Amino acid sequence: MSAPDPDPTPRRAAAFPGGTALFRLDPAVAHLNHGSFGAVPTPVARVRQRLDEEAAADPDAFFLGVPGRLAEARARIAGHLGADPEGLALVANATEAANLALDALRLERDDEVLVTDHGYGTVVAAAARRARVTTVAVDPELPDEQAVCAAVLAGLTPRTRVALLDQISSPTARRIATPRLLAELRERGITTVVDGAHAPGMLADPLAGRPDLWFGNLHKWAYAPPGSAVLAAAPAYRARIPAPVPSWEDGSGFPLAVEFRATVDYTGWLAAPEGLDLIERLGATAVRAHNSGLVAHGAGLLAGIPGVSPLPYDETLAIRSLRLPRHLARTQAEAAALREEIAARLGCRVLVWSWPDGGGIRISGQLYNRPEEYERLAQGLGELLEGKRPVS
Ligand SMILES: Cc1ncc(COP(=O)(O)O)c(C=O)c1O
Repeated sequence: MSAPDPDPTPRRAAAFPGGTALFRLDPAVAHLNHGSFGAVPTPVARVRQRLDEEAAADPDAFFLGVPGRLAEARARIAGHLGADPEGLALVANATEAANLALDALRLERDDEVLVTDHGYGTVVAAAARRARVTTVAVDPELPDEQAVCAAVLAGLTPRTRVALLDQISSPTARRIATPRLLAELRERGITTVVDGAHAPGMLADPLAGRPDLWFGNLHKWAYAPPGSAVLAAAPAYRARIPAPVPSWEDGSGFPLAVEFRATVDYTGWLAAPEGLDLIERLGATAVRAHNSGLVAHGAGLLAGIPGVSPLPYDETLAIRSLRLPRHLARTQAEAAALREEIAARLGCRVLVWSWPDGGGIRISGQLYNRPEEYERLAQGLGELLEGKRPVS
């Protein structure tokens, strides 16, 4: 984590050779928001299409083979993530994973779950449905990992049983559940649940710090089809994770009981390992360096807009957040309106997040992005914000 550069000079960044052609995105739009919904590269889509054709040609053979093929897919994914395949289950998304993880903890209504105000809405809601939630305010401007760690630890109370923390926060792109913070929590007897929605494909070691329960989306940075995520559980929790819909494999236990849902479309999960394979084929280090370099270039340009200031960042990540002028995006409705205005007027897809004392903008860097797209955003946003100056 580095403090914001007071005078950020945009780094030289270049397009990834062949990167744009790997995706089917509309070239008229600058897709600078990979972090929200991801995008499926053509090689992954082709694998999925072949699976779909196989299922159409002989449904009996396809569906009877699903348990074995899930095990193969899981093993390939576990290999890429550095996870124990016995402790990893395919699930639909981070939100489903959060619900299953929290069920495994068998919380009582009076148990306290600690979250931060950077936590993702659906994940925090999953905790609030089961227990008492304590929200720790972590100032988005805190300078470094140590300060974030201290802020979270200061929020513990004698009743805190669980810490449910982002590995990389959605609005602010902050590293929160670092190995160091996880170790501190473990020392205090707190169960750790990590929301690693952005980790697979973005971090080299997504399970670093070995939390008790961890989940990550494959459909963001790991290039899997939508509806692909994983939940990893330490041995003590595996048998307690319920099947979202108990089905014929319920007796098989974790992970197959959690994964198997009778006759549904499994092609996305079975094609998911192809996304991580693709990253390896392209060179994981080169992909990450490209994405983080490009987003740094974009953040540098945005930081040149009057009233826009970078938040402290981790330079290895492919997402960055910047604060907008304080009178903007104070509510979700204001943030959504600004996001739509940016899309309509500039043809740029970005995340605009709300914060009570002024929200921000989050951009992503991906193989399909080019430096010119950030230049278009920065130029257009500067003009757009100029027209939104507060009347004094
Ligand atoms: C940190 C974080 N957690 C959870 C989610 C929810 O992911 P999903 O919509 O796949 O459930 C997101 C989605 O953007 C996220 O950024």
